[in-house]
Amino acid sequence: MNADETLREIATEINSCRQCILCQSRKLAVPGEGPADAQVMLIGEGPGFHENEQGRPFVGQAGMFLNELLAHGGFKRETVFITNVVKCRPPGNRDPQPEELAACQTYLDRQIAAINPLVIVTLGRFSMARYFKDAKISGIHGRASWIGERFIIPMYHPAAALHQPALKQTLIHDFSQLSVLVDKARQTAGSRSSASEPEAEDDATQLSFF
Ligand code: URA
Repeated sequence: MNADETLREIATEINSCRQCILCQSRKLAVPGEGPADAQVMLIGEGPGFHENEQGRPFVGQAGMFLNELLAHGGFKRETVFITNVVKCRPPGNRDPQPEELAACQTYLDRQIAAINPLVIVTLGRFSMARYFKDAKISGIHGRASWIGERFIIPMYHPAAALHQPALKQTLIHDFSQLSVLVDKARQTAGSRSSASEPEAEDDATQLSFF
């Protein structure tokens, strides 16, 4: 099965998933969207009102801002894969609960494995926590770390800027570095695959461009 078929299969499972209580209140599950060979994957928190209505990620106000941010970074939305840590809307947009995150985790793991992106951008604290357990986003936003086979770049959630306008410039600044970081990731991946020494599995190289 190729990556595209694998993603479709995962999406089909998500659309009929009943692994946690979020299935009871959802209208549509939101598996995620984008090309199977995307080099950049963005991981948000969970669907909101509009996403639940349409079955697509980041189509509300935060999504409009995300599209702008991607443009600042030199990317068109259609070229990246966008998904969330939970695929069904938490009622009233509350935080996803640990059992909901756990129930959805294998879907995200499988999406990442199928796409194998060069860069993952985490949006907000729930997706950041997958990679940086006790980190504070204020301390590490916009900085790329090489983890396993790719760069992980934690960013503030676009919705945060809708509530705290001061974060808008921070997000624009961080996203404007994205194409430079993707180039750097390509170089890093190239040099690591041609290096003669074996790679440390848990190697996390911090690369800050600020
Ligand atoms: N916020 C998210 O985290 N994800 C969406 O899909 C929409 C809003």
